Amino acid sequence: MNAAGASHAAKCARPPGPRGHLLLGSLREVQRAPLELLRDGFRDHGDVVRYRFGATRALLLAHPDHIRHVLHDNQRNYDKQNIDYAMLRRLLGNGLLTSDGAFWHRQRRLIAPMFHRQRVAGFCSLMVDSTLEMFERWEFFALRGEPFDVASEMTRLTLTIVAKALFSTDVSDDAEAIGEALTEVNRQLGEFSVFDMLWMIPTARKRRFRAAVHALDQVVGKIIDERRRAAHRNEDLLSMLLDAVDQDTNKTMTPRQVRDEVLTLLLAGHETTANALAWTWYLLSQNPEAEQKLHREVTGVLGRRTPGGLDLPQLPYTRMVVEESMRLYPTAWAISRRAIGDDEIGGYRVPGKTNIIICSFVTHRHPAFWEEPQRFDPERFSPERAEERPNFAYLPFGGGPRICIGNTFAITEAQLVVATIAQRYRLRLAPGHPVELHPLITLRPRHGMRMTLCRASAVDAATQPADRAAR
Ligand code: HEM
Repeated sequence: MNAAGASHAAKCARPPGPRGHLLLGSLREVQRAPLELLRDGFRDHGDVVRYRFGATRALLLAHPDHIRHVLHDNQRNYDKQNIDYAMLRRLLGNGLLTSDGAFWHRQRRLIAPMFHRQRVAGFCSLMVDSTLEMFERWEFFALRGEPFDVASEMTRLTLTIVAKALFSTDVSDDAEAIGEALTEVNRQLGEFSVFDMLWMIPTARKRRFRAAVHALDQVVGKIIDERRRAAHRNEDLLSMLLDAVDQDTNKTMTPRQVRDEVLTLLLAGHETTANALAWTWYLLSQNPEAEQKLHREVTGVLGRRTPGGLDLPQLPYTRMVVEESMRLYPTAWAISRRAIGDDEIGGYRVPGKTNIIICSFVTHRHPAFWEEPQRFDPERFSPERAEERPNFAYLPFGGGPRICIGNTFAITEAQLVVATIAQRYRLRLAPGHPVELHPLITLRPRHGMRMTLCRASAVDAATQPADRAAR
């Protein structure tokens, strides 16, 4: 910003916000119920809300124009050097999600080709086959009418898919260990304690955290070691990471850097999609009209044939269902940045070092951009209606240069998984099962998602392998 701009910024008013505790500000509230704090802040104070968490000052931005300013127009003034990312670095090190600056830029350029549309198209049959394999387990639940946790089933499925697609590895034997470790770190990073900031104080929490990171390191270490020893190299992301040579230094990545990237992609690449799918099944079970429309589309387009990549353009409603579910329950429900230098947003002064919070859960329910925001209505994502909205009113994958690298992968996967499952089953919420939001790093259903299966009427259990022509 130039000198005139800076002096103008200095004159701007301070944004409104909750007063909070004299010393702690809103620290206790953000630890106890972060989603409610942000939602209530927007309701009470509007598009720009000021918070104080102990000594840290933060701004919640809810308006798409302000979000675009931070993530896109003036993104050079915003980095990830804040407390949220410092905590995440304890798990992920300096991988693509947590790194910054020139280093991040190099890694992004290196990894991006793996996520190009054509490359993702090559993963479609893997996505469908993995879902069909899951049905071997599901048949047991269907026959007995027994409720089971769809959220953990979706986690297992998306983990299998991402590990096979990116690292040509079957991690199903490690799925439980990964799931447990991830639940522990997710809880600890989501519900952080002030003692976490005092590194020298040993606590049981920290021991559990270290054990969980160690468990994840073991899995990642095994994947990398096996590949280093293998005579044959698959042409996948892992080989690319191991073989990449930095043009400036002429060196390959250090083992630590490979570990950070593999762990980042393994975790970021499955937990988010799994939660999006779990919320989708829940929303469909509560909205019979939309559910029927989905089933009609799937059977109309596919009949008894299993879906493939070429079917995706013919399944627009399936995609709209997934998009609407990610609007109501965006699994990456909040992202944050740190202002490097002073700035001005919405007429308010933003001093350097301010923490910026962008909460898609809040923006996705902003009444100026979403009619009846609480209602599940996939038609909002018809091309005509989507065109009327400002870009940053919908940001399940973030936006700007740091937009989720796996967004095409995730949408393709979700669309295919939903179509494959809907072709065979309808899912019903188990009677009495409590559904509650659990906003950790990702937005999980607090008690899982216990559901029962019944067969989708139009299609019987047998899908024909010979019918997979369109894949
Ligand atoms: C429904 C599924 C997904 C959601 C909702 C989601 C959401 C997000 C969001 C909001 C960000 C931006 C974070 C920020 O700006 O601070 C992000 C970044 C990222 N995501 Fe995803 N993601 C999903 C699936 C995936 C998949 C499938 C992969 C990889 C296989 C992946 C890998 C990443 C990585 C590596 C980044 C960091 C990108 C960068 O900064 O260059 N995500 N994701």
